[in-house]
Amino acid sequence: MLEWVTLCASDELPPGQREVFGVNGRWIAVFNIGGAIYAIEDLCTHDGNVLAFDQYDRPSKLIGYEVECPRHGARFDVRSGKVTRRPAEVDVPFFETRVEHGNVQILL
Ligand code: FES
Repeated sequence: MLEWVTLCASDELPPGQREVFGVNGRWIAVFNIGGAIYAIEDLCTHDGNVLAFDQYDRPSKLIGYEVECPRHGARFDVRSGKVTRRPAEVDVPFFETRVEHGNVQILL
């Protein structure tokens, strides 16, 4: 059964920021783009790399709403998890989000 899970206070994730949270054994990448919150699994479907940050903990490239895997350059739309550029061919899971009582939550 799905339930809303609190990740952080909304003021801890201001516009332009991203964070990764471990929830129920999964790593979730959460982005604030222009005040809207988006969440996808932090696991590239091409070869299992993380998506939100590179190997030096720097934010990976974000082009509009597309996050680029720092390893081979696959891109995913953070609004849907859809692949937008190869070499990945499988969409990444995405999660509904909301801000409730000042907290960022995802449906998981
Ligand atoms: S592991 Fe992400 S593009 Fe290859």
